[in-house]
Amino acid sequence: MTIKEAMKERHMVRKYIDKPIPSDLVEKLNARIAESNLTYSLSLSLVTGNADGLGALAKMLGKGVKNYIVLAGPDSADLDEKLGYCGADMILYAQTLGLNTWWIGGMYSAKGAQKNMNSGAVHINGVLAIGYGQTQGVPHKSKTAAEISSYKGTAPQWFIDGVNALLLAPTALNKQAFTVRGDGNKVYLTCDSGHFAGIDLGIGKYHFEVGAGKDNFEWA
Ligand SMILES: Cc1cc2nc3c(=O)[nH]c(=O)nc-3n(C[C@H](O)[C@H](O)[C@H](O)COP(=O)(O)O)c2cc1C
Repeated sequence: MTIKEAMKERHMVRKYIDKPIPSDLVEKLNARIAESNLTYSLSLSLVTGNADGLGALAKMLGKGVKNYIVLAGPDSADLDEKLGYCGADMILYAQTLGLNTWWIGGMYSAKGAQKNMNSGAVHINGVLAIGYGQTQGVPHKSKTAAEISSYKGTAPQWFIDGVNALLLAPTALNKQAFTVRGDGNKVYLTCDSGHFAGIDLGIGKYHFEVGAGKDNFEWA
C-alpha cells in the first residue's frame, strides 16, 4: 500500500486488539521517526507497552491502547504545523504497515507521555495511538470540494486531486476548517480551527502535497 492509497484507507480507530507491534515494524517506525526528527528538528518518540500518554477521557473512550507516538519538539513559532505535517506522515506510514491509529490532540496526558521519553524540556502537543485495530474505522463525514476550495480559471487535475486528498485528512473535531485557493501554480491554504489551527494546517499541507504531487505547485 502506498501513502496515497493509505489516505483513503486510514480512519480513526479507538479500540485495539491485544497484539503487540512486531519488532521489525517497531524498527521501521523508529527509523521514520528519526528521519522526521532530523529533517524538522522535532522530538517525536514511539512508546510501546503502556497507555501513560492518554488522558482519563481517552482511556475511557478507547480500548486496548498500548502504544503511541508522542508529538513533541522544542518550542518554535511553527512547532504545531511541523507536528501536524510529520504526524500525518506517521499515521499514513503506519497504515501502509497494516497498523491503525488515533490522533489524540486534546485528550492526551503530557505528563504521562513525558515520563516515557528520553528528551528533556520539549513541548508535547498530542499523541498518536497506534496498533492493530478491532476494526478499520469508517470514513469521516466530509465537506465538499466546493465548500473549501476555489481556483482562478479552470482548475487543473493536480489541484482537484490535492483538494480531494485534503478532504481525507483527519482534523480536530472533524472541523475541516480549510480554505484553499489556487492561482496558476500557487496554492494558498489556511485553516481556521482555533487552538488546533497549526496542527490541522500541517496535516492538511501533507495531504494536499501527496494528492497534488509536490512538483506541480508551490505553496504561496
Ligand atoms: C489535531 C487533532 C486532534 C484530535 N484530538 C482528538 C481527541 O482529543 N480525542 C479524540 O477522540 N479524537 C481526536 N481527534 C480525532 C478526530 O476526531 C478525527 O481525526 C476526525 O473526526 C476525523 O476522522 P478520521 O481520523 O477518521 O479521518 C483529533 C484529530 C486531530 C487531527
